[in-house]
Amino acid sequence: MTLSNPKQYYSRFLKGHEGKLHFAAHSHHFWPDVTRDAQIAYWDDCAALSDEKWGKIFSETIPKTQKHIAKILNLKDHEQIVLAPNTHELSTRLLSLFLGKKDLKILTTTNEFHSWRRQFLRLSEIPEIKIHQVNSNNVPQDRATFLNEMKSELAKNYDVVFLSQVFFDSGAALTDEEIQYLVEATPASTLFVLDGYHGFAAIPCDLAKLEGRIFYLGGGYKYAQGGEGIGFMVVPKGQWRPAYTGWYADHAHLSQAPGSQVGYSDNGMAFMGATQDPSGFYRFNAVWDLFDTEKMNVTNIHQYVLGLQKTFLKHLPASFLKAWSLKPLYSPELSWHGHFLTFEAPSIEIAEKCQQTLSSHHILIDRRGTRLRFGFGLYQNEADVSELTGRLTKLA
Ligand SMILES: Cc1ncc(COP(=O)(O)O)c(C=O)c1O
Repeated sequence: MTLSNPKQYYSRFLKGHEGKLHFAAHSHHFWPDVTRDAQIAYWDDCAALSDEKWGKIFSETIPKTQKHIAKILNLKDHEQIVLAPNTHELSTRLLSLFLGKKDLKILTTTNEFHSWRRQFLRLSEIPEIKIHQVNSNNVPQDRATFLNEMKSELAKNYDVVFLSQVFFDSGAALTDEEIQYLVEATPASTLFVLDGYHGFAAIPCDLAKLEGRIFYLGGGYKYAQGGEGIGFMVVPKGQWRPAYTGWYADHAHLSQAPGSQVGYSDNGMAFMGATQDPSGFYRFNAVWDLFDTEKMNVTNIHQYVLGLQKTFLKHLPASFLKAWSLKPLYSPELSWHGHFLTFEAPSIEIAEKCQQTLSSHHILIDRRGTRLRFGFGLYQNEADVSELTGRLTKLA
């Protein structure tokens, strides 16, 4: 089976990090070697086609990217997937649907990714916007309380609900059933937005039952392994008219005389913006073409990563955790958890010192405030995990 040696696909990034143990796959996954050829193929298309390249990109490259995303999420309608340089752009475009509305009500959680946390904090300065955050700090230990609180809030007719599929600061992941439970508790008039960035292409996710009901955001620079420049949003069918709009939102009608009405595509493209570097789509397509050929999919990739996580936890020295007073934050239900394991330090200073000490011993992880994150991916194998726990034992 190919997954017996997935490191073979990452020779260039591995060479770039020789001697280092890169356990931050959740932050920046290594790119397979095929992405380099894809980047060059993009350049060659630019040289061969100049302006005409956009014809190829819109008719071949983008549909291929959409189809790969649809396959990963088990969606039927790839045309409802819109692409952008990042998810922040798409989520702000989504919010612009409400521009001018009085009394906008948003429901979210206390543990959303920085862009949203900042955005909500800033929006809450506007008197007409009301934002309620359900406490999700304890999701790793007690998901029932969180789900109940979300459910009772959801009944209150919010305009938008925004929450993570996998929380970025713990790795705790909602299951497809839990997401469905929350969606069913949501009035049809509320837009339901799931930030899937830490779930997409990491944990198996089947959105078929929710297709046409929820917005789902994800992107390329983590587990999808295509690097920066690919954000996407799955959009329910509808006549969407975001106020923040660019010329790609009605690309198909560009050659017609401009009317007095602003036209929009009748699919996900209605949320598209303007000119962007499309090389990320080439890289993403190359990765998932390769994985298709090699019969690699999110289910067997997840099993592989889960195996690495289990080995890590089995050999993780208690002395290391004790030395830095680290508290594990993952739930015992590892089989449904993000691809990183989080440990909480008693203070930012201790967390920082711990990360620096690991880095000086060539162990690369990342940190969010007091939380240290160890991320696992296809470019590591069991021997690397043993090397990691060995070095942690010596360090402790
Ligand atoms: C939960 C989550 N959402 C979104 C993002 C990235 O968003 P963007 O594509 O806007 O940079 C990240 C990046 O780490 C994330 O952790």
